[in-house]
Amino acid sequence: MDLRMDQIEIKRNGDTVSRVVFAPAVSGFAGIIRTLGRVFMVYDEAVERYAVEVKGHCPNVAGNFVLHNVSEESKTVRTADNICRWLLEAGADRNSSVLAVGGGIVSDMAGFAASIYKRGIRASYLPTTLLAQVDAAIGGKTGVNLDSYKNIIGTFHQPEYTFVCPEVLESLPDRVFADGLTEMLKTFIIDNGIHGDRVERMMTAVSMQARCRMETEFSALVAEAASVKAGVVTRDELEGGERRKLNLGHTFAHAIEHCANGTISHGEAVAIGLSMAAHLSESLGIARSGTAERIDGCLDTCGLPKKCPFPVAMLEDAMRKDKKSEDDKVHFILVRDIGDVVERLMDVSEAMDILAGHCGTER
Ligand SMILES: NC(=O)c1ccc[n+]([C@@H]2O[C@H](COP(=O)([O-])OP(=O)(O)OC[C@H]3O[C@@H](n4cnc5c(N)ncnc54)[C@H](O)[C@@H]3O)[C@@H](O)[C@H]2O)c1
Repeated sequence: MDLRMDQIEIKRNGDTVSRVVFAPAVSGFAGIIRTLGRVFMVYDEAVERYAVEVKGHCPNVAGNFVLHNVSEESKTVRTADNICRWLLEAGADRNSSVLAVGGGIVSDMAGFAASIYKRGIRASYLPTTLLAQVDAAIGGKTGVNLDSYKNIIGTFHQPEYTFVCPEVLESLPDRVFADGLTEMLKTFIIDNGIHGDRVERMMTAVSMQARCRMETEFSALVAEAASVKAGVVTRDELEGGERRKLNLGHTFAHAIEHCANGTISHGEAVAIGLSMAAHLSESLGIARSGTAERIDGCLDTCGLPKKCPFPVAMLEDAMRKDKKSEDDKVHFILVRDIGDVVERLMDVSEAMDILAGHCGTER
């Protein structure tokens, strides 16, 4: 199957609940978008050109809600509330669709609004960042932040469609592109494919630097990463088991983002988290020797950070407050090898004792 020109389906009890559709450019999705009823578009002002293109092709776009200065600080209940108020004023009903055009912040927030407005209306996403194409816009998790705690308020609400095309990546700043590389690398550390060569192919592609994003081989890897996520979500939609693997590096990342207060991006935090998970795995004797070095090498190739700049005590405190921590224990996803991860329930302090050298200053 040529994934780039095709679609991936996410199923629940055998029925398709969400589709990820691939095309070379935004215009390739117009035929589907025109079938989505009245479309209420929520978009990031930074990607206005793509929203304008959708509007030009799809007369069923009934209105726009523009998000300015998109950031984690704006990913709040208040913004979701504003989207809901706008939907009400604009006359959105149960058959209307919200179409989110933007990165993961926009799809998380617009998806959340769509999931609570009139007890849930249809949502589709046109992700404009690499991170959202391979991760955030697939799988149905929506959410907003509460103060500096990430995604504490949220729902599961599957997008009807996720539209993935390389065209939108052209305007992406390099640092935001690198954030997406982290999630792609994470995905391939979880599932390196039947030939066991995804990480290697990705590193070869990335060695071409930012230019790689418009290359055919890179688009194929994006589709493979999206299909890994779709597969996991099909098997475990509500994160009862296997889906937790996608949290590889994220327990550390959420704590790092909390400490960083906006100075470190989500992707950078996940990169540091991947390195920490790999080193923890090796110290515990779970990972094959050399695995952490290999993952660190991949992060270097992608130009991503590896070391946590914050003191270990600060990180430990933030981890205890994470929504996934239970009685000071956390389900860590650890690496046995590239393509093979395992879950381990561990005491936060035990893990952080081991990782003290990976953090800013000693305890
Ligand atoms: N729901 C999930 O399963 C899930 C999974 C992973 C991450 N997330 C969430 O995703 C969010 C991060 O999303 P993101 O990394 O996509 O970032 P983002 O939405 O914050 O976008 C990053 C920056 O890039 C700009 N931008 C977006 N697309 C652009 C384009 N094509 N050209 C130029 N500029 C563009 C935005 O304006 C913003 O400044 C986090 O809040 C995270 O919690 C959710």
